[in-house]
Amino acid sequence: MKILDQPEDITPQPGSAISYAGLIEKIEILRSTLRWSSKLERPEIEKLLKQASSLRDEVMQLSHKERFVQAATAEPKRVDQTPGARRQGLLERSFIFEGTFGDNPKLLEALEIAEKAAPTDLPVLIDGESGTGKELMAKVIHANGLRADKPYISVNCGAIPDNLLESELFGHKKGAFTGASNDRKGKFESAHTGTIFLDEIGELPLSGQVKLLRVLEAHEIQRVGSDEPIGVDTRIVAATNRNLRKSCEEGRFREDLFYRLSVIHLTLPPLRERRDEIALLLAYFGDEAAATLKRRPVRMSPRLRDFLKNYDYPGNIRELRNVVYRIACLAADMADIEHLPLDIRPKSAGMVAMNDAQVSVGIGGATSLSEAKRTASDEAERAFLERGLIEVGGTVAELARRFEMNRSHVQMLLKKHGLHSKDFRQRDKEG
Ligand SMILES: Nc1ncnc2c1ncn2[C@@H]1O[C@H](COP(=O)(O)OP(=O)(O)OP(=O)(O)O)[C@@H](O)[C@H]1O
Ligand SMILES: [Mg+2]
Repeated sequence: MKILDQPEDITPQPGSAISYAGLIEKIEILRSTLRWSSKLERPEIEKLLKQASSLRDEVMQLSHKERFVQAATAEPKRVDQTPGARRQGLLERSFIFEGTFGDNPKLLEALEIAEKAAPTDLPVLIDGESGTGKELMAKVIHANGLRADKPYISVNCGAIPDNLLESELFGHKKGAFTGASNDRKGKFESAHTGTIFLDEIGELPLSGQVKLLRVLEAHEIQRVGSDEPIGVDTRIVAATNRNLRKSCEEGRFREDLFYRLSVIHLTLPPLRERRDEIALLLAYFGDEAAATLKRRPVRMSPRLRDFLKNYDYPGNIRELRNVVYRIACLAADMADIEHLPLDIRPKSAGMVAMNDAQVSVGIGGATSLSEAKRTASDEAERAFLERGLIEVGGTVAELARRFEMNRSHVQMLLKKHGLHSKDFRQRDKEG
């Protein structure tokens, strides 16, 4: 293995955080090389992958101390820096954001704030649309904090019925209510010395908000049915896809709790505002899906790739990831538009995906050579226009620019073939 042939390359210089970052990167390279090794048997690969993972964990632990020092003292001129340099800066300061991809300035800003916040115990509020990586960011903050080797407990506040909320968060005493047959620890106690991630905090009912506020103020809880206060030392990271300021104005969220939770406030941008990252994410999840499904990575046709680069992703990175897994599962060697889920597939995809056999059906009906030629030419013209419409997301002006044709001529051709540009616009642009 290349990395093992070059031991001098991976020797950390004592006390240097940069060498740890380099080491972690090399372990990652080793892991991906291993994954596709054709000379080793699967069980051997799995065993070596496991060893590489635990090696990486050890290196991460070793680099912790240095990271705090570096994060606290680093104050680069961020606005003047290129995204690549900002990302490199994070890596060099050994900030762990493994699995978090992208060079978009808004994402980098979120990561830089997380870097500063992680070694403190300040509460962090993360907001952003569904699937933008809020939970991933919460884990990044925990992994880079002083509590990294302590518990990380996640609670979905939107999924707990009102009547169980208090017991779920704070625990209960035996006999506190029907069904409480034993003493039970709540999530806060389980997260003692570590981090508690309060997901979907915007869904917490007002009664729960009051109780949470009390814990934040007093750093102690009481189990349901008990008067005894129990001290808890937990770092709080909360997330929501709501606009909590607005919820406060509407009286659905307590303003005092909002300010307590949002000492550090991070907003994750939706994927449609960082399209430059789509190609990278497609490649990353493509490899990940191939590894999970134990198959070779699937190639994508140019029109599928174009569609995926221009699609608006209302479900953000999670939706992109799901689409890639679906494609990796359904396609043979080359994936195309027809492998997309029906609800996001461009409406005329069936026509666009017309294959040779279908074209020859059209020709098959011709009674003369000239008719066959005309039919074939018409079919080709139509398919060409449809593909173009998909690529430009249904914008005729853009299509005309691409084809270097007069706009009215393009419109005339679309009319000839009964094509409607709006059918090629993406779902949420229509609505
Ligand atoms: N920047 C990123 N790079 C790579 N993967 C990402 C990134 N952001 C999110 N993901 C992946 O996208 C998926 C969704 O992320 P996550 O669960 O953190 O989103 P969320 O904001 O918590 O969503 P929800 O509001 O629906 O709970 C996960 O598989 C996560 O690993
Ligand atoms: Mg989430």
